[in-house]
Amino acid sequence: MSVTDLLDVDKGKIGRNLFIDREIYEQELENIFARCWCYLAHESQIPNPGDFVSAYIGEDPVLVVRDSRGKIGAFLNTCRHRGMRVCRADQGNAAAFTCTYHGWTYGNDGKLVGVPGYKEYYYEELDMEQWGLVPVAQVDSYKGLIFGTFDPQAPPLLEYLGDMAYYLDIFVDRRDGGAEIIGGVHKWIIPGNWKLASENFVGDSYHFPITHASSTKVRPRTPGGRPQAQPGQNDPKDFVANVGNGHGMMMNPGREDPPGSYLAEILPEMESRLGPARARLAASAGTVFPNFSTLWGTSTIRVWHPRGPDKMEVWSWVIVDKAAPPEVKDTTRVQCLQSFSPSGITEEADGENWSQVTASTHGHVARGYTFNYQMSLGHEKSSEEFPGWLGPRVSEHNQRGFYRRWAELMSGRNWFELSKGLPT
Ligand code: FES
Ligand SMILES: [Fe+2]
Repeated sequence: MSVTDLLDVDKGKIGRNLFIDREIYEQELENIFARCWCYLAHESQIPNPGDFVSAYIGEDPVLVVRDSRGKIGAFLNTCRHRGMRVCRADQGNAAAFTCTYHGWTYGNDGKLVGVPGYKEYYYEELDMEQWGLVPVAQVDSYKGLIFGTFDPQAPPLLEYLGDMAYYLDIFVDRRDGGAEIIGGVHKWIIPGNWKLASENFVGDSYHFPITHASSTKVRPRTPGGRPQAQPGQNDPKDFVANVGNGHGMMMNPGREDPPGSYLAEILPEMESRLGPARARLAASAGTVFPNFSTLWGTSTIRVWHPRGPDKMEVWSWVIVDKAAPPEVKDTTRVQCLQSFSPSGITEEADGENWSQVTASTHGHVARGYTFNYQMSLGHEKSSEEFPGWLGPRVSEHNQRGFYRRWAELMSGRNWFELSKGLPT
């Protein structure tokens, strides 16, 4: 039986083995993480030549570096000699990286520049040109967001993002100077399958009033966020956008900002950059396939790194407008940490769900029963105003788009077949 027999997206049925099976997981590393554009870092984290930051693509450690000439590159963070991690710091500045095992040294452009005993032990016969760090095949940025893919055949980043770029601009291009990361990175482990987080952020409004019932009552407001909406009730103007390629975002249009608030003050600038309709979109959560998610109201971006079929490692950052005043940045950071962070009162409720779903799915009998993704099946529509294939705000439209893409990639279809939309 093929992996794609385990799900029938058109009928809204997804097999539970997708969330616990080791073989499926290994196939995901090969067919999804080694092929797709994955989020690595933000340019604001490495502004100067020599700046570097650690990242991952799937389970492969990656070093993202701005080399001495200012060019951004990314390399497998593993020594070509015996595989030691070449850089063990989260971030910093370095002209070169010296492996702590036997001392091979690589320039910040990935080239092997030093080998202890090159003369005495290797008799100058080692071909240094051949043994530089393994480069990530393609590295590119979208308005400061750096992505990389190990697949040289993958389409250009802009094509891969498609209409998702229109919605990402609400984060990264609403003010002159774009966005920047403030503070460091929060990392934590959740004993749950990575897809449960990606699919929650891609389009799950349904859970909000139940899962987050208690935290909603006490959650502080974010100056960049929408006054507390009532997600879970389908306001006809709210929608989810499935933009294809597995990406999606949840949206509340016609946002009204409290007078005197930061958003009210920057609205004219946002309108001139994004147009009036997009400037008033409150983009709730969204996911760029496979595992990069955004949360507009709390100014968070994060990656759900896979760590086995039933474990994920979350890396989360606070993102703000570069041009925002310092007090707005700081309030945003604090309020983000109070709600969406390892200590956040909203965050932990999600992690609890994902870990319990994964644990209960391990049951021998339980795994024989599919999950249900049938909400609002057939109620999608196109729009003249906003790009994508839109569904009601409370629906499982985007989740179905996510798993449709998952199935296409897992069936081994090449990028040409994917771009032509040829049947599976
Ligand atoms: S493993 Fe890096 S120098 Fe030997
Ligand atoms: Fe949630």
